[in-house]
Amino acid sequence: MTGTDKIKRKRKKPKPLPMEVEIRQMQLKDLPAVFELGQKLFTAEDLPTLYRCWDDDEVMNIFSNDAETCLVAEVNGKVVGFALGSIMSKPRSAWRYGWLEWLGVDPSYKRHGIATRLVKQMTSAFIEGEARIMLVDTDEDNLDALAFFRRMGFGQEIKHVYLSMNLEDHPKYIEHKNIQRNGKED
Ligand SMILES: CC(C)(COP(=O)(O)OP(=O)(O)OC[C@H]1O[C@@H](n2cnc3c(N)ncnc32)[C@H](O)[C@@H]1OP(=O)(O)O)[C@@H](O)C(=O)NCCC(=O)NCCS
Repeated sequence: MTGTDKIKRKRKKPKPLPMEVEIRQMQLKDLPAVFELGQKLFTAEDLPTLYRCWDDDEVMNIFSNDAETCLVAEVNGKVVGFALGSIMSKPRSAWRYGWLEWLGVDPSYKRHGIATRLVKQMTSAFIEGEARIMLVDTDEDNLDALAFFRRMGFGQEIKHVYLSMNLEDHPKYIEHKNIQRNGKED
């Protein structure tokens, strides 16, 4: 086999799923399933940054503010993937941004094009919501997600540094804790 033949060799196609995958808008009844699946995917080790946190409030907030940009993938009545997004406009800017905040696919259903379909449908929802730019973000160690997003055409990668400070040594913190403690003792 020549070098060119090797380059031309087609990538192995994923085995088609034996059942149909439906991508639809998320409904209130899907909240527990979406939350549970997210808990499996976004564990503390997978989300080392403090600025994002997967909890039931997070899901509920996005869903109640932006239901049109919350989607699920369903197989035989089971939620196997989700995409939660929101549309933002900045003050004094004509630009509207569609931010894909959370995207997840059940590990047993990975590499079957489910996230691709979710993102495509989310893109249409953002365009219908007048967004002109679509944003995604993930930890730089999340190589699977980066490979996926790059494959979907996302680029212009900007690194952002998060800094933190332990407030427990701050005089105000110590004073506040002392007041709380004394209040309880009274
Ligand atoms: C990232 C994620 C959403 C991808 O879901 P998926 O349904 O498996 O993705 P798709 O099947 O649509 O993948 C499309 C293409 O993206 C690329 N891709 C997806 N997962 C990949 C991986 N693990 N490694 C390398 N490339 C990958 C491939 O090019 C793939 O095409 P191929 O299978 O024909 O090679 C899924 O792995 C996931 O839920 N990860 C955990 C949660 C997460 O990190 N979310 C993103 C940040 S919020």
